[in-house]
Amino acid sequence: MKLLLLAVAVLLLVVEQGTADRILSRRTKRELASPLHMGGIRDPFGSYCQRRGGCCPGRDDLCTVPYLDTICYCDLFCNRTVSDCCPDFWGHCLGVAPPFIGTCERNGHRFFTGQTYKENCNLCTCGTTGRWECEQYACLIESDMIHAVNRGNYGWRAANYSQFYGMTLDEGIRYRLGTQRPSRTIMNMNEIQMNMDPQDDHLPLHFSAAEKWPGKIHEPLDQGNCAASWAFSTAAVASDRISIQSMGHMTPQLSPQNLISCDTRNQGGCAGGRVDGAWWYLRRRGVVTEDCYPFLPPQQTPADVGRCMMQSRSIGRGKRQATQRCPNTHNYHNDIYQSTPPYRLSSNEKEIMKEIMDNGPVQAIMEVHEDFFVYKSGIYKHTDVSFTKPPQYRKHGTHSVRIIGWGEERNFDGSPRKFWIAANSWGKNWGENGFFRIARGDNECEIERFVIGVWGRVTMEDMHNHHHHHHRRRK
Ligand SMILES: *[C@@H]1O[C@H](CO)[C@@H](O)[C@H](O)[C@H]1NC(C)=O
Ligand SMILES: *[C@@H]1O[C@H](CO)[C@@H](O)[C@H](O)[C@H]1NC(C)=O
Repeated sequence: MKLLLLAVAVLLLVVEQGTADRILSRRTKRELASPLHMGGIRDPFGSYCQRRGGCCPGRDDLCTVPYLDTICYCDLFCNRTVSDCCPDFWGHCLGVAPPFIGTCERNGHRFFTGQTYKENCNLCTCGTTGRWECEQYACLIESDMIHAVNRGNYGWRAANYSQFYGMTLDEGIRYRLGTQRPSRTIMNMNEIQMNMDPQDDHLPLHFSAAEKWPGKIHEPLDQGNCAASWAFSTAAVASDRISIQSMGHMTPQLSPQNLISCDTRNQGGCAGGRVDGAWWYLRRRGVVTEDCYPFLPPQQTPADVGRCMMQSRSIGRGKRQATQRCPNTHNYHNDIYQSTPPYRLSSNEKEIMKEIMDNGPVQAIMEVHEDFFVYKSGIYKHTDVSFTKPPQYRKHGTHSVRIIGWGEERNFDGSPRKFWIAANSWGKNWGENGFFRIARGDNECEIERFVIGVWGRVTMEDMHNHHHHHHRRRK
């Protein structure tokens, strides 16, 4: 019992000591506090001391108000050589003009200290010295990068995209991609063996799945600021494969949102995910169409996946049936589509080509670099236009896309420039109607490193059942 009391007493002492330390540290901190207004008064017309309900005489370390991400003071002590006063201290407590107010010029207009404007992705603030002080982030759209690409002889052209303008490069990488690099075990997944004689492959110079299978290759969707290319590329490849294998009896545009909201195990929704997890879900649970479960781009928090609004149950022989109606209440076709296990292709260009020609589009993982966002047309290759800039202008992230064909063009000297034709998920106003061409045969941006094919799960029975409403494909 005595021991217990002792323990409590010691504990109290420690707590007491802690509080004292905190007060002490606050004082010390204040003395060492960085001057709030050396770099200009932010929000000079804001209400701080006034909102607090007044000012404090002498020194009072508790006379504070929250200010930006710190605090400011409304006691007279704040007005010393190193000022930590609130922006309205002089006006409200002393009744004089703040000593730091300056004016800046822009387009012939006058701005006061603390006023701001946005220059592309950077916020500029009028500083105390009358100069604009701007953030220094690398932007997703940099006009000098666009010009450098278009001036240079890179084989592709760059353009400004209003949907990217004003975003930082970091935001582009964070919100517009969204495929995790395959783990080591997945990378070691066995590649399928093709019985193929590289000499005698009969591969044409030009091939497009959209020409071989008209009406069965789906248009690119737009992932918006949702980093879920893992779901978009998987749904797109599965859609095309099911349409091809059912010979057009079913041409579903499968729902990325179904994957984003429901395939949540080890997946990050709009904050990135894995393609192997997406394929597992398509095989074991299946998804409905995009029209049944439409994509809802995230508004506020990109990581918010939304509630899962579609479940399915087994109806035998590996098949599943939806147990809920379509989230889109105008659509009554909640059929579940499934795939077989995916297979990994080798990185051999010819084998990838043969697979596309025989079975349809494939999924590919690629590294997206800063210049890819401004791609408009031509055969993309990562350029060196940002190489002379500081490192924050050179970033990359992992993405996944759907390859639907290939071709080649000739240089002036007659040498061929081979390319893949691939669909992105940045809408149809990006690139060549939502598609892009990228150099083939050199593992450009690692696009040939991890390529996946899959079979839809399609039976004769499915073809009959689905036949009567296959016209519901959206135009
Ligand atoms: C306090 O503010 C007034 C008004 O701006 C100024 O004249 C005075 O020099 C300041 N006092 C100190 C100690 O800085
Ligand atoms: C890009 O487009 C935005 C608006 O969509 C425009 O404000 C901006 O000036 C353009 N930037 C360049 C570099 O052309």
